[in-house]
This record gives sequence, C-alpha cells and structure tokens, in this order.
Amino acid sequence: MRKIRVAVIGTGFIGPVHAEAVRRNPDLAELTAIAGSSEETAAETASKLNVPFFSGDYKKVISREDVDLVHICTPNHLHFPMVKDCLNSGKHVLCEKPLALTSGEARELIQLAEKKNLKAAVNYNLRYYPMIQELKSRNSAMGPGQIFALQGSYLQDWLLHETDYSWRMESKLSGKTRAVADIGTHWMDLAQYVTGLKIEKVLAQFSRMFENRKKPVGGKDHTFDRGDAKKPSDYISYPVDTEDYAQILFSFEGGIVGNLTVSQVSAGYKNYMEYRQMGRDVSFSWNSESPNRVQIGHRDQANEILLKDPSLLQPRPASMSAYPGGHQEGYGDTLKFILRDFYSDILGRSVEGGASDYPSLQDGLSEMLLCEAIITSAEQGQWVEVGV
Ligand SMILES: NC(=O)c1ccc[n+]([C@@H]2O[C@H](COP(=O)([O-])OP(=O)(O)OC[C@H]3O[C@@H](n4cnc5c(N)ncnc54)[C@H](O)[C@@H]3O)[C@@H](O)[C@H]2O)c1
Repeated sequence: MRKIRVAVIGTGFIGPVHAEAVRRNPDLAELTAIAGSSEETAAETASKLNVPFFSGDYKKVISREDVDLVHICTPNHLHFPMVKDCLNSGKHVLCEKPLALTSGEARELIQLAEKKNLKAAVNYNLRYYPMIQELKSRNSAMGPGQIFALQGSYLQDWLLHETDYSWRMESKLSGKTRAVADIGTHWMDLAQYVTGLKIEKVLAQFSRMFENRKKPVGGKDHTFDRGDAKKPSDYISYPVDTEDYAQILFSFEGGIVGNLTVSQVSAGYKNYMEYRQMGRDVSFSWNSESPNRVQIGHRDQANEILLKDPSLLQPRPASMSAYPGGHQEGYGDTLKFILRDFYSDILGRSVEGGASDYPSLQDGLSEMLLCEAIITSAEQGQWVEVGV
C-alpha cells in the first residue's frame, strides 16, 4: 500500500476535523469517502469538503474497494457496532473516544482486530500537543521515582444552561457516565501516558446541576450548538441520569496520589484541561487553553516558563511541532500528528523522532475499565479497584 485510502463516518463537529487532518498527511493518506446519517447531510458535507464519494448509509462506504481505513466520528453508542462492521469488512479503524459503552464490548473489539490482523486506534488526540510530548520525554529522562502527585481538571461550560442539549445527555446514546467518559477520559489517558503510571484505584463523587433539562423538539443537536435561542414552546422536559460534574481521587501504581475535577457546567471554562505534576525536584503545569507553554516549578531557584519552540524541545516533541517557535500549535494539530503516528504504523514506515505510540484499542479498554470503576465508586461511595 503506497497511500492509505480513508473514509470518515460522521459529519458533525469532529468528522470534518478528521477529514481536514487526513489531508494534512498527504504523503501517507487520501480521503476517498464520507458517510453521514442521511443522504442529504452526507452530500452537503462531501460537497463542502470536496470528497469524491458519499453516502447516507455507512455500510456502502465501508464495503468500498477504495477504502482501507475508516474513521468513526459518530455518537458513542455507534462505536461498537461500527468498529465491528469495519473490522469484519477488512478495514483498519480509527475510532473516536470512548471506544465503546462497556469494557465487554471493548474486549470483543480487541479480539476481533487481532483475529483479522488489522490495525486500530482510539482518538485520544490530546496526547499529541507538543508540550505534552515534551513532558513525557522529560519524565522518561528523569526515570522512575520522581513523581509524587498528580492533579488536574477538564472543565467546560457548553452544557451550563438547562436548555443546552446534545445526544450526550441521553445515556442510551452516550453511556452510563457522560462528563467522565466524554472529557475525563482524555485527562486520564494523558496522565497515564505522560507518566507511564497506571491508575489502580478510584474514589469518585458525581453531581448534577439539573435533575430535569429541556431539549429542543426536532432541533439541531450538534456538539457546541447553542440551545438557548428558542421559544419555551420549542422544548420538552426530560430527566437527566448522567453527571454534569465529577470529582475523583486516584491511586496510581507505586502509591502515587492524584485527583481530577471534570465539569461540563463551569461558566467561562471552554475546553480547559489542566495537568499538574508534582515531583521530588520539579513540578510541571500545563493547560489546554494555553497549550504552548509549560511552567517548570522550582523550590530553590526562579520558576521557568518553557514556550513551544521546536529548537528547544526533545526530538519527538520537536517532530510534532508543525510550526516554528512563537507560532501557535493548537487542537487541530494534535489530530494531524496522531494520524501521522497511526498511518505510519499501518504503512510500516518509521516516524521522525521516535517510535509510534498512538492510543491503541487496549488504551480504549483501559478507559472503559476506569469509567466502570468510577461509576461503581460514585454509586457505592467507596474506593474501587480498576479492572484489568
Ligand atoms: N477526540 C476529541 O477531541 C473529540 C472531540 C469531539 C467529539 N469526539 C467524539 O466524537 C464523536 C462524535 O462527536 P461530535 O461532537 O462530532 O458529535 P456531533 O453530534 O457533532 O456529530 C455526530 C455526527 O454523527 C452523525 N451520525 C449519527 N448517526 C450516524 C450514522 N448511523 N451514520 C453516519 N453518521 C451518523 C450525525 O449525523 C452527526 O453528524 C463522539 O464519540 C465524541 O466523543 C471526540
């Protein structure tokens, strides 16, 4: 295979972001097809993005000979059946997070991918900020025993109003946890990736701002659409059964402690993921709303601010900087680089700056096991061991 021929399923928020990122890897892949939930939305997106083939039926896309790899960018409940169908059709898969709704489903997908000898990845793309890669490189160089504690948050405000609506509010489409599965898993993936430490035990508490919310009748529900510009008669009330907010204590391997706050109802915080690491000698802090700087904290000398500049970074993070120092690297660039890692592995090519280490189906399973332990802990009010 000289170039990977890629299809994207899903035309909402993240589907077109994937389509653009495919095209930012022109030496490795090309976009050949797109599927939407109807002929109309598929046609509209295909025309906007100039994709040669489109369909409102994803099965017509995944059965095509000019498709080698499928990106699944649909609501969570469709991930399991769609990954399964793609693998059974002989296609490699990149699935949006979370991989499935349960760990049982995730295990089935791992076995199927192995049986079919196909490559699969889960899109925990936030690992691919260059400064996160830099922290990982620095941790590897410092060796084990340096890290003492981890802290963080992932805060958003797009579900703050009672009328804000997304399919994520429906647990049958989104899963038994909402905020934790949707954004908390990004932080947990990132923390385990940067430190190389597994989370072993969790103690969680959930909270909801509204027991009942209002949803638009027949309105758009794409991610980040505003739901507050309609008349009261345009809404119906429905009960909410998932969390708006979660606080979680972690016990990482080696007895390292950690905590995370996750919220989709924190006014003024848009996509604010914060990672803080405290060590014996230095601390690191980073947040996704200013992703090109890291604070390196010292006790006995002045703190340092490291700004993203490939000439100052380790080889792998430098290779994941699309632009020179001072020019901002952002969310869209993380997609470019996760695809570069994954596509290179499929093509058997080496990557600049070190080996591919994209999030695998095993990492997707690990996040499902964490979600399940967190749900059990929130229900029982006690520490719960994470399954393996
Ligand atoms: N990695 C990230 O940073 C990130 C960011 C946002 C969303 N996501 C994940 O991506 C997925 C999609 O989220 P979104 O925010 O784009 O949602 P969205 O609601 O904006 O888009 C979902 C799209 O899927 C389409 N769809 C639904 N059923 C379909 C079907 N049977 N066939 C084809 N298309 C179908 C819908 O029409 C819609 O266009 C979710 O699993 C979410 O967790 C990941």
